[in-house]
Amino acid sequence: MDLMFDPYTVLKFLHIIMAGLWLGMDMGVYNAGARLSNPKLSIETRAAMGKLGGFLDMGPRSAVVILLMLGITMTALGGWGFTGGYGPDLALAAAVVGVVWLSGLWHQFWVDHPNLGETRPDKHVKFQQHFRRIDLTMRIIVTAILAGTAIWSLVGDGPIIATWLAVKLVLFAIIVSCGIGIRIYLPDTRKAIADIFANGSTPEREAELTRRRSKMLIFVKTIWTLVAVVIWISVAKF
Ligand code: HEM
Repeated sequence: MDLMFDPYTVLKFLHIIMAGLWLGMDMGVYNAGARLSNPKLSIETRAAMGKLGGFLDMGPRSAVVILLMLGITMTALGGWGFTGGYGPDLALAAAVVGVVWLSGLWHQFWVDHPNLGETRPDKHVKFQQHFRRIDLTMRIIVTAILAGTAIWSLVGDGPIIATWLAVKLVLFAIIVSCGIGIRIYLPDTRKAIADIFANGSTPEREAELTRRRSKMLIFVKTIWTLVAVVIWISVAKF
């Protein structure tokens, strides 16, 4: 009974919830995206699908940050790595950075998805232009540090003790890189949608949207596959 509500169990519970939420909500994003790009549906329906997709997308976007925050703490607490005495400090730092990062992401959602007829104040829009750059830089830094730490642990004397965790971190770094890939293609896809909404649907505009969306989907499907593999590795702990 002691182990039922101990901090590690609570963290692990939340970590698993986040993994499920990621894949589950991503299926919703995919489905809403397919309808948003379907020329047979009315513009109103497609716009509503876009709004729904934008909200559902906050699931995976938040989950990736929360999984990392919880994962670092569990790694230290569970003795899977970061055993040099600095583990608790690292976990605290990850939690603080994670909460700030999450707030920025939800603020971005608020700025990017105003209700019909609403516009967001200029200072918020400007803040998000800066945040987008910080977010992208953070992702590149995080990917490099995670991949570096994991590979160092696999081939030498790095801070991750468990092999399954080191392999998982390499895959996690690739997942974050795919997220960067999506962010690179997203503005063009959004432009293609805005063009259809503003100027009407033509076969050329629809073809342009399909072309841009299919580029993003390569990254999306790679992420699903890797998340599933990561779950397998986490459960199997080879
Ligand atoms: C795509 C992202 C991730 C997914 C889908 C994921 C999934 C999971 C799942 C399903 C478990 C439960 C395994 C079990 O109970 O047998 C788990 C455990 C764990 N994960 Fe993750 N994880 C992710 C990212 C991370 C990251 C980034 C870290 C570390 C920085 C991490 C560290 C851990 C640790 C230490 C455990 C605990 C193992 C245990 O005590 O059984 N995870 N993960």
